[in-house]
Amino acid sequence: MAQSKQEISQSQVQRAGEFLRGEAGLTPSSRVDLGMVLGSGLGEVAASVESGRRIPFDVIPHFPVATVEGHQGAVVLGTMGGLTVCCLQGRLHYYEGHSLETVTFPIRVMAALGVRVLILTNAAGSLSRKFRAGDLMIVRDHIGLFLPNPLRGPNPRGAGPRFPDQSRAWSKRLRELAAACAGDLGIRIEEGVYVAVPGPSFETPAEVRMLRNMGADAVGMSTVPEAIVAGHLGMECLGISVIANLAAGLSGCPATQNDVLQVADGAGTVLRPLIASICSGLARM
Ligand code: HPA
Repeated sequence: MAQSKQEISQSQVQRAGEFLRGEAGLTPSSRVDLGMVLGSGLGEVAASVESGRRIPFDVIPHFPVATVEGHQGAVVLGTMGGLTVCCLQGRLHYYEGHSLETVTFPIRVMAALGVRVLILTNAAGSLSRKFRAGDLMIVRDHIGLFLPNPLRGPNPRGAGPRFPDQSRAWSKRLRELAAACAGDLGIRIEEGVYVAVPGPSFETPAEVRMLRNMGADAVGMSTVPEAIVAGHLGMECLGISVIANLAAGLSGCPATQNDVLQVADGAGTVLRPLIASICSGLARM
């Protein structure tokens, strides 16, 4: 009998997971404590991973290849602050032409490695006067209506709920931990609402006015599909946005990918100790 699409994709997830376990010397029953997705220009955070094994996406079975500048396209497995971690150095985006099934494949692989806590980072444009370029924002909530839902399609028996609740998509416990760690390090951080748009074009000033009026504080082209799938798989999520620019119409100059990468690169030096501190905090919980 022909396999269904879901069955094929589940076996691909298992295969990729087994490969990563083998590469990192993890036993079949050991669990990776923490998953992390490092967005545009933020891949250097993985330099804090100890005894890290770096595995390029293109050698992992069934793994899609990252095509965007600023996204290195590798998995780094190792330890951080006493936890075993699996970092995605770079991510896949809908605007690259990938389906959302492909975009969220690495999240399913992390679940196969046993990950239950996931940190999603991204570079975003500020829609709010309270954020300036270089600031960090903890994602309190999101708006994901502009993208298809990554859970569209069959919901096999044993998967999460058919209609998953999203009111706790962003863990309160992790948001509080991140704010406390930032406070200890003297890093300015505030919570806000992240809206995901398909990209790759930046927003028009009229779209920015609409997104602001909808209640969003920052706009980006990622993160929400990953958070929806992670929640469905039972993971607890923390989101941190690096505000890379003021969204169109809020500043006098147009947004460019170069500016985004430059600011994200600089913010990586702030994000790195923050994430290390969050790891240590999690290890104590
Ligand atoms: N808009 C959308 N995505 C982004 C932006 C922006 O202004 N900056 C970084 N990612």
